[in-house]
Amino acid sequence: MSKKLLEIDKLTVSFETDEGIFKAVDDVSFHVKNNEIVGLVGESGCGKSVTALSILRLIPSPAGRIEKGRIIFGGKDLLKLDIREMKAIRGNAVSMIFQEPAAALSPLHKIGQQMIEGLMLHKNISKKTAWNIAEGWLKKVSIPDAGERMFSYPYQLSGGMQQRVIIAMALMLAPDLVIADEPTTALDVTTQAQVFELIKELRQSHTSILLITHDMGVIWEMCDRAVVMYASRIAEEGNINDIFSKPAHPYTKGLLKSVPRLSTDAERLTPIHGYVPSPFNYPSGCYFRNRCPQAFDRCKKEKPQLVDLGNGHKAACFLAEKNKKLCIPTLEHGNEKKS
Ligand SMILES: Nc1ncnc2c1ncn2[C@@H]1O[C@H](COP(=O)(O)OP(=O)(O)O)[C@@H](O)[C@H]1O
Ligand code: SF4
Ligand SMILES: [Mg+2]
Repeated sequence: MSKKLLEIDKLTVSFETDEGIFKAVDDVSFHVKNNEIVGLVGESGCGKSVTALSILRLIPSPAGRIEKGRIIFGGKDLLKLDIREMKAIRGNAVSMIFQEPAAALSPLHKIGQQMIEGLMLHKNISKKTAWNIAEGWLKKVSIPDAGERMFSYPYQLSGGMQQRVIIAMALMLAPDLVIADEPTTALDVTTQAQVFELIKELRQSHTSILLITHDMGVIWEMCDRAVVMYASRIAEEGNINDIFSKPAHPYTKGLLKSVPRLSTDAERLTPIHGYVPSPFNYPSGCYFRNRCPQAFDRCKKEKPQLVDLGNGHKAACFLAEKNKKLCIPTLEHGNEKKS
């Protein structure tokens, strides 16, 4: 069995705003093994990006604060490293593809210069070699006239092209872990497919990937396992076949039913009713209960904890707990992913 590369243990992150303090990530634990693609999925506002930023210690401070937890990477707790040690991890052992490309590029420097800096710093190679590698990666992510683009400033590139540069920068260092936060949101469908192919290739070369998305279709196509987040907490976790063939949390079931290309008949295309509540307005008991078609009395009074359903499959729902006790399988989709 492959080893855990990243282990997040009881991570809790809070923000202090004018309205008060709230938890953006609440007691979240999961892991990514070597050579594995793990999907972190959930609607907007569930805490996916804050979880990702915590791994690289990039939570905006002082508003944001990691209150508790451990983030073990390669045997070390990243939350205990000093700034110098953390800088050595960023970009080299762990790289991140952000949702927003503009924030990740310096407006003052040419693309080529920005790309070779990381390569020269972390790989100890000459400027000429770094330049050739960087140009090769621009071609791989389908930047036209890659040689000329190396001399462009970010503002001279479209948003989609900037994102492809960021993706090339993250992938070319062949890190142990890539955290990709909705990496293809700004891209057209063809480029999206190319980027997903590149990410799959990376896994062949022993890089693990934490892929953040709101799209269960992407999870199905790309991932070995999925962690479903709802309103700052983990709702369900498991390998892809378990998540898709026997989802145990009504939220996961709702996400699956709202994906057109996964549903087997038109009737099942039902968006989840309502919205993710504001963190200042989480209901008592189960945070999903106001949207849950199966909510019952206990859901108002108690917060469900993750229940182990076997084979690494876990769900935080009282029904999963009950089904486990009765040993009733909750087959829903009948999909089986071939690996
Ligand atoms: N810098 C910030 N300051 C205040 N609140 C924030 C900040 N970043 C994120 N949040 C809040 O934390 C919660 C989780 O956000 P986020 O992790 O970005 O969600 P997701 O990536 O799942 O869409 C949301 O309620 C969001 O508004
Ligand atoms: S605990 Fe209750 S409200 Fe929450 S998901 Fe399960 S059934 Fe629905
Ligand atoms: Mg996000």
